[in-house]
Amino acid sequence: MSELKIAKRLIMTPGPVSVDPRVSQAMSNSILGQFDPDFTAIMDETMELIRKSFLTENTWSFPVDGTSRAGLEAVISSIVEPGDRVLVPIIGRFGHLFAELVQRAGGIVHTIECPVGEVLPQEEIIKALDIIKPKVLAIVHGETSTGRQQPIDKVGKACKERGVYSVVDAVATYLGTTIPVDEWELDAVIGGAQKCLSIPSGITPITFNERFSEAINTRKRVEEGIRTNEETEKEVFIRSNYFDLTQLQDYWCPKRLNHHTEATAMVYALNTGLKIAVGEGVENRAERHAYHHEGLKRALEALGLKIYGDANHEMKMVICVEIPEGVEPNEFRKSLLENYGVEIAGSFGELQKKIWRIGLMGYVVEKQNILTFLSIFSLFLQQQGVQGLNPVKALDTLVKYYES
Ligand SMILES: Cc1ncc(COP(=O)(O)O)c(C=O)c1O
Repeated sequence: MSELKIAKRLIMTPGPVSVDPRVSQAMSNSILGQFDPDFTAIMDETMELIRKSFLTENTWSFPVDGTSRAGLEAVISSIVEPGDRVLVPIIGRFGHLFAELVQRAGGIVHTIECPVGEVLPQEEIIKALDIIKPKVLAIVHGETSTGRQQPIDKVGKACKERGVYSVVDAVATYLGTTIPVDEWELDAVIGGAQKCLSIPSGITPITFNERFSEAINTRKRVEEGIRTNEETEKEVFIRSNYFDLTQLQDYWCPKRLNHHTEATAMVYALNTGLKIAVGEGVENRAERHAYHHEGLKRALEALGLKIYGDANHEMKMVICVEIPEGVEPNEFRKSLLENYGVEIAGSFGELQKKIWRIGLMGYVVEKQNILTFLSIFSLFLQQQGVQGLNPVKALDTLVKYYES
């Protein structure tokens, strides 16, 4: 059998993106046992780094093994009991994912929606809290499918005042913008690995506060086989075993109660990725994303493309462009990848074949990559026969932006 060979790529999608070589290197270290003191020290350090990344003092800041939806599912399965009402504001595909997870946990979903490409005013969400009186608000911060960032700085406080638990999908915005969890009084927030943090997919940092912890612990059940005399079996318990956050709490604390077998190499990756991100500074990282986003956006407009969506609420880690006439959307993406190793993304639902999504996430977000991307993308698009494009003007705009 031939050796595994991976081609070089410039990934300009909303994830997964390329990782820093320091992360790959960390993953190739020897595997440690999950109760080895050397490893538990790495766990403690990783928890502290997660706190810093979410700008929170929450004790409960640890990863869930699995892709980002594992983090979402763990939070939802742990807080939502059958029959609970959950308010899910939907501004795109990932709102529907929240609704799906709630339904599977037996919750009753109430949605509010806005036109695609827009966001919901927070006042509208707060009004819906008063009408629906849910137990939980499950809201997406960065809706990757439309490139919109939902304002959430007021909803956490509003939830707290009403005895509602706020749960936030910050998978795409995590470490690409600041998410001050404590300041915004959010109860549980889920980040992402393969996006702005730029480590491989497969581990998901989450954080939740004491209020949330108390609520989920009313349904705590430690599985038989590791249950001690202290823990009695409860009649009503969290239905999922793997995604039971209360059992994960017992592993991610000095008790170190056995649950799953920890994915130690993924924890090395998370630890290293977080050290890089926190070392750069959460605010600086947000500024870096916003800075390059602005430059590339101006250049794409100079090229002759139309930027999609409500400009006041754009995510700084994705640029959505309307697909110009004269090109077959998926064929173009395929050829761009096959010929030049450059990857961009399409979208979902009604935006399919209407927009391309150009990701600006984490490790790839630097001048050289963006200049390379723009040169290849704009010339290749023109070569495909799209009329009215001006690649020279686009490059000139970007170079001047970086020079100024
Ligand atoms: C906003 C958002 N939420 C959830 C997910 C699901 O993440 P995963 O594919 O890692 O499970 C994604 C993935 O793109 C996302 O962008």
